[in-house]
Amino acid sequence: MKSQKLLFVCLGNICRSPTAEAVAAHLIRQKDLPWVVDSAGTSGAHDGETSDPRSILHAQRRGYELTSISRQIRESDFYDFDWILAMDRSNLDFIKRICPDASLLSKVSLITDYCSEKSYQGVPDPYYGGAEGFDEVIDILEDAIEGLFEKVLDYGDKT
Ligand code: 4NP
Repeated sequence: MKSQKLLFVCLGNICRSPTAEAVAAHLIRQKDLPWVVDSAGTSGAHDGETSDPRSILHAQRRGYELTSISRQIRESDFYDFDWILAMDRSNLDFIKRICPDASLLSKVSLITDYCSEKSYQGVPDPYYGGAEGFDEVIDILEDAIEGLFEKVLDYGDKT
């Protein structure tokens, strides 16, 4: 099976995308897949920081470990990764704008496009909200990443 490299991207890379990375890493271990995951932010404002303590706590309660250190998305990511998953539409627009080559745009998509249980237009930013927002992030991402894995597995079978 071909290895697939997945990059999750949000604004600060301290709440949503590290959570997505942890949910995906958990599923990868469970399914014993030879895939690689990472996450990044569009802003770089939290470069070098561990994830938001609220995200770490809520993820821990649901069985996920957030180990990511924040970094900004860079040009080489567009070549190094096969799938670049934006957490919301603003992240998606930014990623598309800095994409170094139009031929690489096919790697970029909105994570909630893979949801099947409920329809979402992006993962809401929990940073300025209450505790329930952090749980909602995990709910949405569990659904989305399940669907994403089906798509990636299907894609891998055809290439
Ligand atoms: P994230 O959340 O994009 O899911 O990591 C945020 C983190 C930090 C800020 C905004 C959103 N901030 O404004 O510092």
